[in-house]
Amino acid sequence: MAAPGTTGDEGGRQPGPTENIDSILTEERRFEPPASFSAGAHVKSLAEYQALRDAAERDPVAFWAGLARDELHWHRPFTSAFDDSRAPYYAWFGDGLLNVSFNCLDRHLAKNADKTAILFEGEPGDTRRISYAELHRRVCRFANALKMRGIGLGDRVIIYMPMVPEAVVAMLACARIGAIHSVVFGGFSSGSLRNRIEDASARTVITADGGHRGGKVIELKAACDTALSEGCKSVETVFVLRRAGNHVRMQHGRDLWWDEAESNLADECEPVWVDGEHPLFLLYTSGSTGKPKGIQHASAGYLVVVAATMKWVFDIRDSDIFWCTADIGWVTGHSYVAYGPLACGATVLMYEGAPTVPDAGRFWSICARHHVTIFYTAPTAIRALMKLGESFPARYDLSSLRLLGTVGEPINPEAWMWFHRVIGHERCPIVDTWWQTETGAIMIAPLPGAITTKPGSCTRPLPGIDADIVDANGHSIADFAQGGELVIRKPWPSMLRAVWGDDRRYRDTYWGKFDGRCYIAGDTAHRDHDGYFWILGRSDDVLKVSGHRLGTMEIESALVAHPRVAEAAVVGKPDETKGESIFAFVVPRGARPTGDAAGTLSAELRAWVAQQIGPIAKPDHIRYADSLPKTRSGKIMRRLLRDIARGEAITQDTSTLENEEIVRQLQGEP
Ligand code: PRX
Repeated sequence: MAAPGTTGDEGGRQPGPTENIDSILTEERRFEPPASFSAGAHVKSLAEYQALRDAAERDPVAFWAGLARDELHWHRPFTSAFDDSRAPYYAWFGDGLLNVSFNCLDRHLAKNADKTAILFEGEPGDTRRISYAELHRRVCRFANALKMRGIGLGDRVIIYMPMVPEAVVAMLACARIGAIHSVVFGGFSSGSLRNRIEDASARTVITADGGHRGGKVIELKAACDTALSEGCKSVETVFVLRRAGNHVRMQHGRDLWWDEAESNLADECEPVWVDGEHPLFLLYTSGSTGKPKGIQHASAGYLVVVAATMKWVFDIRDSDIFWCTADIGWVTGHSYVAYGPLACGATVLMYEGAPTVPDAGRFWSICARHHVTIFYTAPTAIRALMKLGESFPARYDLSSLRLLGTVGEPINPEAWMWFHRVIGHERCPIVDTWWQTETGAIMIAPLPGAITTKPGSCTRPLPGIDADIVDANGHSIADFAQGGELVIRKPWPSMLRAVWGDDRRYRDTYWGKFDGRCYIAGDTAHRDHDGYFWILGRSDDVLKVSGHRLGTMEIESALVAHPRVAEAAVVGKPDETKGESIFAFVVPRGARPTGDAAGTLSAELRAWVAQQIGPIAKPDHIRYADSLPKTRSGKIMRRLLRDIARGEAITQDTSTLENEEIVRQLQGEP
């Protein structure tokens, strides 16, 4: 029988929703919220959580509307909270007027002007504290610089920056004038940058000379120059922040140094009041095709849910030092480095560099020196640091920590327990948070003062989030031992609004399957007897490599663009540290290389993919064959390739293959 959530077709991706269930079902450890934590928490008990859920279930629109009124400053209150007349293009708070940067800055100034908004540490060790008053000034000044270059309402602005406070300044400056930003992760190459600039028809790029990462300078401006030399005709201005001091080329008339551009400009900039549905940002993410999609988020609905989840899930308090290690180029950085913490008037820590510079104690040293109270990171980082031993965290005083969190991929119970014991000293609750670029904010996670946790489970949906697990017909799965497709049954305010420039892709990908009745997340999951959710992995051709989301098709397209490659298929292979590694099967043009020639070509292809997409997409393993195994209808037999990549016995029928010898080649036999 085909596993739920799949087509049963050999060609479809199928991570095997049932295969992990046995191990999950045997996980019996439970961790109650510590009484001392619950006592001071925003949501103090299971009963309080349940009451919130019940209220949301009784009247979802009234529930979210109440939050929108409580959490945000409205220049003009909304009268219509929700509009489903154009489903699945849902609208929230559409006739209200607000400004997101006003909500993140101005409204805090009366009480918290001197409070630290951003606490920054660069990889070389430089530190800065930026108060809310200063952040406000800097955002206004830079917003004025954008305006001087003709940027205004609805214009797209690409941000390609290192993890420095100015990245947040740039985002908020766009929000201040109603421009739509699209942050591109600094680890992406010039090719990825160019694609995103062109898809968004951006008028401006904001970048830096370089950033510090892993002991090296990442040459962002140079990558930007390459992207712009290959197209990107819409770009009129490039702002360049001085960060790493590396030499860059400035093109007269187009390129401006950030400091010079804003030097004589005012510290005040009237916010542009936009309607609740005005697009706040685009963020490109990988899907099942070769082309990343621009996920479009709206202003008000997004901000309401990120602010609410800061309270529900992170239990944010005025005195917290909140550190989310995600890069600003991913949605986690948008929601829990920039918008969520600042909407709540919190102090957020930003770190520029790698976790292992100068050694594997860097994260713990930062926690100790800056008295971090809430620490939110990716399982892949935990696993990598766990491997390097307990002696690193043991050197630092981690007693300021009170809450830990994970995001981006399933966390294996062993890593969860290490995080709990070695970092949290068995004192800090752990929130395993499930969500996506598309959901805008956390959807399924424990409320740390209210919900008992189990290592490896993201536990229960948040209030107002109607998550479910369904079979191939869209029916809720009652059988606890069966996995299925993760869906969300009701619209929620922070959901994506569109795929930029591609309405059809929005409808087909997210609402296409069950007559548009629910949002399809693209994950498989399973629920236990307590109603806890356990995420099993993606149900589409998306990989999670070190928590980074990559499409197999994207990597395949990059490979086949190389002159030596005729055909390529990419699959994920489970990896102890990275979660998944990238395994590429390649049909070369000309003779199949073996021995040293194979090694040389593989090195060339890895470098090629790094140049086309970015170093994060480099295949970890490459195998060569004279052809790829296909079904009769011509689809690549991905399940077979996955089994081969894992080194598992082949259970599928390969008799239809024209040349069974191919399987032996794919298995790496000489
Ligand atoms: O597969 C799920 C996984 O990450 C995907 C979303 O990736 P992205 O849009 O890059 O956003 C990541 C940060 C929010 C999901 O479809 N994922 C995310 N969080 C978890 C997770 N898988 C298991 N457990 C999680 N807590």
